[in-house]
Amino acid sequence: MGKTVILDHPLIQHKISLMRDENTGTRDFRILVEEVAMLMGYEALRDLPTELVDVKTPVAEAKVPMLTGKKLAVVPILRAGLGMVDGILRLVPSAKVGHIGLYRDEVTHEPHEYYCKLPRELSERLVILPDPMLATGGSACQAVDFIKAQGCTHIKFMCVIAAPEGLKALQTKHPDIDIYVGCLDDRLNEDAYIVPGLGDAGDRIFGTK
Ligand code: PRP
Ligand code: URA
Repeated sequence: MGKTVILDHPLIQHKISLMRDENTGTRDFRILVEEVAMLMGYEALRDLPTELVDVKTPVAEAKVPMLTGKKLAVVPILRAGLGMVDGILRLVPSAKVGHIGLYRDEVTHEPHEYYCKLPRELSERLVILPDPMLATGGSACQAVDFIKAQGCTHIKFMCVIAAPEGLKALQTKHPDIDIYVGCLDDRLNEDAYIVPGLGDAGDRIFGTK
């Protein structure tokens, strides 16, 4: 059974509040989403296994902890998930990176796939799946389907803001994955945008509106 963690760290909350402000421009928004992703990654990866290895310091021999276990892959959901990748790679620079391209139909709000390129041997890896927004949950559920279809059994989904509707959908469809949320907002509006949310994350990261 996976867990859901709401990351209530004050630094994460402060930075998300800055992201919400409609006066925050593209440059600052991009920096903030990367910083939030790094802080969220720090918390989400606190259960990575370590093993003791021998090291000789300038002073003495010692047994010290080093990461062990599954290798990592970061698989952002395009486009907006791209904004979180560098923040996570700052923590785990040798992770492989895949991409899942999904866009939401403006009328039906259903996700449509336009690209999928995943690292090999995903069944051997822990996959971190970042997307700033979990709204209806359709995009995240489909992305997890793609990753599981490659045999992956260990997935951590990470979003900056979630709507209760999307969180419930993802927990119901994929109860085995871990979900990390920066802020759990109030609801979706009639256009399936998160309220209060921060608007269209992709447009705000890439300056396309
Ligand atoms: C946004 C967001 C998620 C999706 C969330 O992407 O980045 O992928 O919507 O909505 P859902 O939970 O209802 O599926 P969008 O489709 O706007 O594409 P973009 O990242 O290219 O802007
Ligand atoms: N996608 C976004 O970028 N924002 C929302 O509020 C919902 C979906």
